[in-house]
Amino acid sequence: MVELLPSILSADFANLARDVAAAERGGGTVIHVDVMDGHFVPNITLGPPVVKSLRKATSLPLDCHLMIENANEFIPAFAEAGANWIGVHYEACPHLHRTLEMIIDHGMKPGVVLNPATRVQVLYDILPMLHHVLIMSVNPGFGGQKFIPFALDKIRRLAKIRAEEGLAFRIEVDGGVAHDTIAQVVQAGADLLVAGNAVFGDGKAEENARELLKAARAAAGESAAA
Ligand code: DX5
Ligand code: ZN
Repeated sequence: MVELLPSILSADFANLARDVAAAERGGGTVIHVDVMDGHFVPNITLGPPVVKSLRKATSLPLDCHLMIENANEFIPAFAEAGANWIGVHYEACPHLHRTLEMIIDHGMKPGVVLNPATRVQVLYDILPMLHHVLIMSVNPGFGGQKFIPFALDKIRRLAKIRAEEGLAFRIEVDGGVAHDTIAQVVQAGADLLVAGNAVFGDGKAEENARELLKAARAAAGESAAA
């Protein structure tokens, strides 16, 4: 089943509870939280204290996308704050297996994120322990960027491996997912659709989320009530 994950990066940070509630009314089922450290990516956003406040504002799962160096140092704090899913970048984790074990040991669902230039094959041996693989369809750091088309080939390749190996990890896509790209992303095989600017960009989060989800479900061949 396809799910919409509103990314609060494009929400109003002074009104996060209000914006998250609107996206939830529109059908968002997981909240995507972008954590940036100004080192791994050229931007700074938020950390565990904001996750802790979000935890009180919504009962939806919180999907924390860590764009940070030294993820291991912060995993306990995100768990404590109430994060549910943690995605770490392949490019930022030299001891990826250890990092994933830490995430699992702290009771959260582990995911790995791949930058546009990183091939999906690098994850082959570790796929059985993953809850999700996140394919970046922009270079991480900012909302509102243009979708990179070859991400679709990566999604297809990953979906093929998943089917061949009989695995259950979810395929998530992040960056430039909007009205003009969402159908292709779903048809390529993604089921977790992150959208920031397309949901929160114009202050109409509820309507935008509803429309995006409708388009995604149509592309997946799912009924609106699903
Ligand atoms: C970018 C972030 C994304 C961002 C996507 O580094 O990881 O989650 O919010 O934004 P849009 O949907 O605006 O491309
Ligand atoms: Zn993200």
